[in-house]
Amino acid sequence: MVGPEQPLVEGVVDRFLAAGRKIVGPTAANARLEGSKIFAKQFFAKHAIPTARFLVAETQAAALDALPQFDLPVVLKVDGLAAGKGVIVARTAAEAKAAIETLGAPLVMEEFLEGEEVSFIVLSDGKSCVPLEPCQDHKAALDGDQGPNTGGMGAYCDSRILTNSDTQRIVDTIIEPTIRATQFTGFLYAGLMMTSAGPKLLEFNARLGDPETQVIMHRMQSNWGDLLLRAANGDLGDAQIEWNEGPSLCVVLTAGGYPGPFARGHRIAGIAGAQASGATVFQAGTAREGADLVTNGGRVLAVTAGGEDLQKARDNAYAGVSQISFEGLHYRRDIGSKGLRRWEQVNL
Ligand code: AMP
Ligand code: GLY
Repeated sequence: MVGPEQPLVEGVVDRFLAAGRKIVGPTAANARLEGSKIFAKQFFAKHAIPTARFLVAETQAAALDALPQFDLPVVLKVDGLAAGKGVIVARTAAEAKAAIETLGAPLVMEEFLEGEEVSFIVLSDGKSCVPLEPCQDHKAALDGDQGPNTGGMGAYCDSRILTNSDTQRIVDTIIEPTIRATQFTGFLYAGLMMTSAGPKLLEFNARLGDPETQVIMHRMQSNWGDLLLRAANGDLGDAQIEWNEGPSLCVVLTAGGYPGPFARGHRIAGIAGAQASGATVFQAGTAREGADLVTNGGRVLAVTAGGEDLQKARDNAYAGVSQISFEGLHYRRDIGSKGLRRWEQVNL
């Protein structure tokens, strides 16, 4: 099973298949759904998949010329892989002009959509697919969805995020048409905006999400190896996945400054304490330096916990976070707030 997008885009799945080996992931051709925003938007248009109105600007001058065709805020996206950092939501004309200068060309320019963001991921064997539980990521660096976009600052996984009818509509209008057109294999991740006009697709990823994986895995009860083998064999059929009832929640601990420049090599303390408190600590940007564990990336750790309701899952995750320290440590304090307000009437 392939984790990150870069080897998928470079064709690791094609090479395994050519060698007669089993693998779970999309071909390079299908990984372009994530690897190129222009290709992806043109694919959505061709297959009538609901998405934000857009145009492709080939040059910076064309992007500047096209600005008046969009209301503010307007969304600007670079074409290629950018680790979650190639998208700018510009709230003023000055911001939009600055974003065009920063991002360069070609660019996708698109209508800003309002609503709740949802990550909906399925495992597909090219014909059939099995959905994973829905999640909500928190992409902005700061509390209250302020600050620049990141690769993900935290997530929760809760079956209440989508009603059955929402799920059906997403599968019917977005997932099924894509699998039918591409025989997509592997994890197809739909980044959705739940708008007043129904679910619209912001982007596809061709893999599991980060930090969605952490919260999904925390709730999964089924035999993962068995599911992957069935997917690799084209034998998913009507596979079902068993889930823990209670939600799970994960808080990402980042290096100070991320997603801008940040330092590496700061000693990390407290992981054992966090695990002892009942949280699961997934490591990402870490390295060993002698006997020490040190920071070695922007997103350093993902502290994850479950609970009988979202409030308990959140309390458990933040109890784990409070055990951990390193120089420059930053995290959001409001992961899960939207869900708490919506379903558990928590006044925050
Ligand atoms: P993307 O990589 O396309 O998912 O964009 C990254 C993030 O930018 C998304 O998760 C949203 O938070 C935001 N975003 C992207 N496109 C739009 C849009 N059309 N309207 C509102 N927000 C958007
Ligand atoms: N959490 C968003 C991503 O993995 O792209």
